[in-house]
Amino acid sequence: MYDAGKIMTGLVVFLVILTLPFWYSGAMGKGGARPEVKLPEGEKKCVESKEYMRDSHMDLLNQWRDAVVREGKHTYVSEGGARHEMSLTNSCMKCHADRAQFCDRCHVYLSLNPFCWDCHLDRKQTGQGAK
Ligand code: HEC
Ligand code: HEC
Ligand code: HEC
Repeated sequence: MYDAGKIMTGLVVFLVILTLPFWYSGAMGKGGARPEVKLPEGEKKCVESKEYMRDSHMDLLNQWRDAVVREGKHTYVSEGGARHEMSLTNSCMKCHADRAQFCDRCHVYLSLNPFCWDCHLDRKQTGQGAK
């Protein structure tokens, strides 16, 4: 006779190990385990709250792109009333000038490779970045 209990335990352990990368990336978005990133010096606030940015910066970027490309709008008004130009290069990368120490830190960790930089410049490429 097989021991059903042991088989179940083995199966559960196996499944957890198999899905470990998934648990990790899930926790990251919620502020759990994640790599160290270099935040901009001399700036205190992002476009929206840190929590929102952590979870939803990709959605915000899509929103910005659609607003600019489809509706010809260029100004974003944040929850707190601050105004920002809806631009990956001129806003996000102006504050987060060091892409390698910020955006790439998380994305490399997650094996993500957003293709945005095929077309959009970061500040180093525009020659306006931090060294
Ligand atoms: C005015 C400067 C400024 C702009 C513009 C800006 N950020 Fe930020 N960003 C910050 C600062 C400062 C923080 C840290 C906020 C804090 O600690 O509360 C931050 C935090 C973040 C975080 C969370 C980092 C973490 O530690 O979890 C992400 C992700 C992010 N920004 C992405 C973006 C993206 C994408 C854009 C463009 C849509 C953008 N930021 C535009 C200054 C900026
Ligand atoms: C604190 C970690 C962190 C930082 C910093 C960060 N990202 Fe992300 N980014 C993520 C995570 C996590 C995802 C994937 C979310 C998902 O798949 O649901 C992601 C996904 C994206 C995507 C969608 C890519 C795709 O293939 O779906 C874009 C675009 C993006 N990030 C842009 C940026 C930019 C631009 C910056 C720097 C200004 C930045 N991110 C900084 C964690 C981060
Ligand atoms: C094949 C080239 C290409 C790629 C790849 C690309 N974009 Fe764009 N994007 C454009 C063009 C062209 C515009 C329109 C520029 C304008 O009208 O000012 C634009 C506009 C935008 C805008 C609004 C204007 C601005 O200057 O930022 C945002 C935000 C944006 N894209 C985000 C992204 C993100 C995020 C990614 C990666 C997930 C991405 N784009 C990938 C070509 C590209």
